[in-house]
Amino acid sequence: MPFPIERPRRLRTSNALRRMVRETELSVKDLIMPFFVVQGTQICDPINSMPGNDHLSVDLLVEKCREVADLGISGVLLFGIPDKKQDDGAASWDETGPVATAIRAIKAEIPQLLVITDVCLCAYMTHGHCGVIRQDQVDNDATLGLLAKMALCHAKAGADLVAPSDMMDGRVGEIRQALDLEGYENTGILSYAVKYASAYYGPFRDACDSAPSFGDRNTYQMDPANVREALREARLDLEEGADIIMVKPALAYLDVIRAVSECVDVPVAAYNVSGEFSMVKAAAAQGWIDERKVVLETLTSMKRAGADIIITYHAMDAALWMK
Ligand code: PBG
Ligand code: ZN
Repeated sequence: MPFPIERPRRLRTSNALRRMVRETELSVKDLIMPFFVVQGTQICDPINSMPGNDHLSVDLLVEKCREVADLGISGVLLFGIPDKKQDDGAASWDETGPVATAIRAIKAEIPQLLVITDVCLCAYMTHGHCGVIRQDQVDNDATLGLLAKMALCHAKAGADLVAPSDMMDGRVGEIRQALDLEGYENTGILSYAVKYASAYYGPFRDACDSAPSFGDRNTYQMDPANVREALREARLDLEEGADIIMVKPALAYLDVIRAVSECVDVPVAAYNVSGEFSMVKAAAAQGWIDERKVVLETLTSMKRAGADIIITYHAMDAALWMK
């Protein structure tokens, strides 16, 4: 029935009405806050390309995590930054390294806060690729065992979920098997199943000094033009035992979040990546946008697209703004 009988504006006349008919609810429990952890104590080195984010030593990280938990945010995602990079990435499965130490410290102090760990070799390797290099190529199968070792190290330290971000084929199955063999059948896998070869990771690579020293990630991360392939990646990771499927980045891929969320029967996470974050920060610093409104609108769009969980550097600000 057309105008003047139908008037969509009627349901927008008051805040109470708008609230009652709102279709999507963003909540602090949906949010995960990423952190970068380094060796040492009392270290808080700002990351230039990601305003408000720092390289943190474990002692200061634990303090931040207490704030995160007090805000009602569900959990944290940890990235380790080793003191020096190696050819074999061995520091990534060091049980005394920054990530394992951080997991233990957080779980001892704030056991209710979920601890998720990024599992990938790029920040630990001299060449900055996400896998082992053989004859100038990223060798898929030679990488799997190392990822499993890293995941097991995090599980032993008490991680709730491990999150492989490398995009090697078969890594979810390899990690699942390694965890189960050692009695960690209850440690979950949040798979970066649908991860695109994106320029939006720029500020993060600066933060981790993990840009590849030669070539690019196009032979393992996905082509931004593809969506059918996203469903295939999601299906394969579920068959291998993934508990949660991630789509990354989020903002330029809302259609992919929608498509994946309609075809899987597990929770879907969206990663609001560093480039998306830093663009908002830069525009807000110029006074060109209202940061608070833009952030809440952006995070809501990810939920509306079908994400259940949002990993975002805005998590602490957004939690404050939602209170
Ligand atoms: C490591 C990893 C990356 C991100 C998460 N894990 C970088 C990359 O793949 O190059 C990106 C996160 C962000 O940009 O916020 N594999
Ligand atoms: Zn990587």
